[in-house]
Amino acid sequence: MAILKIARMGHSVLVDPAASIEDPTAERIQRLIGHMKETMADAQGIGLAAPQVYQSIRLIMFLDAADREDAVDREPVVLINPEIEHFNDDVEYGIEGCLSIPGLQGLVPRHAHIGYRGVSPDGRLIEREAKGLHARVVQHEVDHLDGVLYTMRMTDLTKLAFDSEMKHVIERTQAEARMAEANQEGFDEQSG
Ligand code: NI
Repeated sequence: MAILKIARMGHSVLVDPAASIEDPTAERIQRLIGHMKETMADAQGIGLAAPQVYQSIRLIMFLDAADREDAVDREPVVLINPEIEHFNDDVEYGIEGCLSIPGLQGLVPRHAHIGYRGVSPDGRLIEREAKGLHARVVQHEVDHLDGVLYTMRMTDLTKLAFDSEMKHVIERTQAEARMAEANQEGFDEQSG
């Protein structure tokens, strides 16, 4: 197996839509999956999409863990030709990074509860529901197949920061939430 080079933001492979895979069980696909698993583990990522290793095909892998600590030593879930379904319009904000955008993190809105389906490397249909970090990572990786990076999903670019500065974004966001809550209480009092 081999550790592959990871494409970085700006390269066309990250903005081009990826092609469907006709035969998920093909030898070429199995070999790529092996290389991608090794590459993701080496980079300490929790998800990786084929376009990130310069393969413009619809293949993703991710750790379906409840949190980052829980993700250690897990075998990644591999999904070919994945599709996402939204159960409702509930959105959650959470911190994301991307191996193709090293050194940065951002606060990104994502659907809180999704269903997803795809084909496993041995050709079986996989269908699951996901919430929280699990739902977030699946949406992030499927976005890579459509040429979308997390920064393109952000609604407030003041919440994009270097890794070392992200703590300031979190503090600011928490202060804003407290202020919004206080304003809401004030409003309730006035209206009552
Ligand atoms: Ni990414």
